Amino acid sequence: TARSIPMTETLSSAITLSPRTCPFDPPPELIEQAEARAITPVRFPDGHMGWLITGYHLVRAVLADPRFSARQELRHAPIEHRMVEKGLLPPAEPGMFLRMDPPEHTRYRRLLTGQFTVRHMNRLIPRIERIAADRLDAIAEQGPPADLVHEFALPIPSLVICELLGVPYSDREVFQRHTATLLRLESSLDEVNAAMAGITGYLDELVRSKAASPGDDLLSGLIETGELDQGELVRIAFLLLVAGHETTANMLALGSFALLTNPAQLAALRENPSQIEGAVEEMLRYASIFQIGIQRAALEDVDIDGHHIAKGENVILAVQAANRDPERFEHADTLDITRPNNGHLAFGHGVHQCLGQQLARIEMRIGYRALFERFPDLRLAIPADEVPMRSDMAIYGVHKLPVTWKEVKQ
Ligand code: HEM
Repeated sequence: TARSIPMTETLSSAITLSPRTCPFDPPPELIEQAEARAITPVRFPDGHMGWLITGYHLVRAVLADPRFSARQELRHAPIEHRMVEKGLLPPAEPGMFLRMDPPEHTRYRRLLTGQFTVRHMNRLIPRIERIAADRLDAIAEQGPPADLVHEFALPIPSLVICELLGVPYSDREVFQRHTATLLRLESSLDEVNAAMAGITGYLDELVRSKAASPGDDLLSGLIETGELDQGELVRIAFLLLVAGHETTANMLALGSFALLTNPAQLAALRENPSQIEGAVEEMLRYASIFQIGIQRAALEDVDIDGHHIAKGENVILAVQAANRDPERFEHADTLDITRPNNGHLAFGHGVHQCLGQQLARIEMRIGYRALFERFPDLRLAIPADEVPMRSDMAIYGVHKLPVTWKEVKQ
């Protein structure tokens, strides 16, 4: 029974903040939990007893199960500094559909799905190729060494999401600074709220000006549907802006780091660039950027895998552990760009499965390929164990990735 299972002291010690032995593997404490059992009772910072789920099949099953809710007001904060009184968060405001259940969620998702089809995203390919080429030109021109995060991984998805939404790129400083505060695990609730107010204040102005003079962008398109009010538009724009750049940026940088430290895999990709699609999926599996995992709350009593989850109890779905589950993946801890049947959960699963996944995939395919083609002998400019990791951020990755090279291809 659950009682005979040793309990994790606190959730945060299992999911974050414990130093990693390998920069691409989950923290040792989480690995230990995952190896011992697929589901473990854990104490949240407010004292709430919930569950940490690390097994691939269980994580996938819970994400597809409508008895588990994404509603914000059912959540206990997983991070100490972000607790509110009585432990529960307020309900999500209109438009924040990531933290809602069907049917509220469905309405927003439908309005957006039409804008994020594979066809729509494929149309962006030439533009993304141009953006990547421009960044690489700039890097080549400056000469070695370069910080790939600053010069490449962050600007590409920022430029793309700004263009897609119709946000002037010159305003990026405003939302990048606030986004960093949101993602810093040490930020207090007050700091988080101030950062959110900063971004939404900016977007409020932007939506107003687009309503007055629409452009050829997603935000203008959403305004023109006439189905969303000002507050909803601002929060949807917020969600897309925040979800759309830090995630992809950290995958671009962390994936590049993984390839640079796995030379045989990088050589295989260079020899056979048509493997890029599989390589991107493998990078998403191997180098998960979600440090905290995905959170849900039970809407009723649920029995899974011999455990009784009571109504209201929260579960943390540790995607980063699920993606390394040896019962699902052969040689789970090995980066293998030719891995068949890679059903990773990096984009989640079920009704909330990542809306921007096609865009993220396209950006990564174009980004990795262009980078390693342009610089055939690219290598780290500092020892791998000195690369500063984002252990302090909700979205994991590298703070900096200094690289150097001798040869540049046109
Ligand atoms: C949802 C991962 C890129 C927009 C999600 C979820 C995950 C995820 C795991 C599910 C969260 C949950 O179930 O609670 C990623 C990763 C990315 C990425 C790993 C990059 C490699 C993007 C991009 C965009 C985006 C580029 C937008 C342009 C969204 C939105 C949702 C979402 C709007 C909420 C969907 C919903 O609630 O229905 N993402 N994402 N993401 N993602 Fe992404």
